[in-house]
Amino acid sequence: MTPFSPLVSPVSAPPALDAQDLRKSYGRGKRRFAAVQGVTLTIAPGQVLAFLGPNGAGKTTTIKMIAGLIRPDGGWVNIAGKNPHRQPQALQGVGAVLEGNRNLYWRLTPLENLEYFGVLRQMSGKMARRRGQSLLASFGLLDKQQVPVQKLSRGMQQKIAIAPP
Ligand SMILES: Nc1ncnc2c1ncn2[C@@H]1O[C@H](COP(=O)(O)OP(=O)(O)OP(=O)(O)O)[C@@H](O)[C@H]1O
Ligand SMILES: [Mg+2]
Repeated sequence: MTPFSPLVSPVSAPPALDAQDLRKSYGRGKRRFAAVQGVTLTIAPGQVLAFLGPNGAGKTTTIKMIAGLIRPDGGWVNIAGKNPHRQPQALQGVGAVLEGNRNLYWRLTPLENLEYFGVLRQMSGKMARRRGQSLLASFGLLDKQQVPVQKLSRGMQQKIAIAPP
């Protein structure tokens, strides 16, 4: 991914996210290659940023560096003024990161997934089922409760993936 400068809204509040000159290489020796080469992003509170690029451009690697999941080789990150690599509480204001949808069982229905994860978290089967139905209702997915997750749209899958147990 090569450097670029996103549009920044003219809001004077301190940035919600400030990432400067992020860099990351993978591999060793001759196989070493730069996945992210100097990405700078600033997002003001309330601003929406679309971060687009072709497959393999380095988007996920950049987001992992922002979320403190991998250490950048260069550059720095601030979330609401804190460095997530040194102060994990910086991530408390990050609601959810939806990267893919691997955390669901594809052949199970949304309700079966929610029941399964509810029971794993110590709920009774009955309680997990009731809770699952109420979560599906609040996401407007009651009509999909019997459809296997693999036949839902990506956005529907993502709603189920973030549904709290
Ligand atoms: N853990 C890793 N080890 C080695 N190479 C990696 C690793 N993770 C990602 N890469 C490589 O880094 C490059 C950027 O990958 P990344 O996952 O950041 O791309 P992306 O922009 O999110 O792509 P996509 O749109 O397909 O999700 C790719 O060439 C990928 O193969
Ligand atoms: Mg990706």
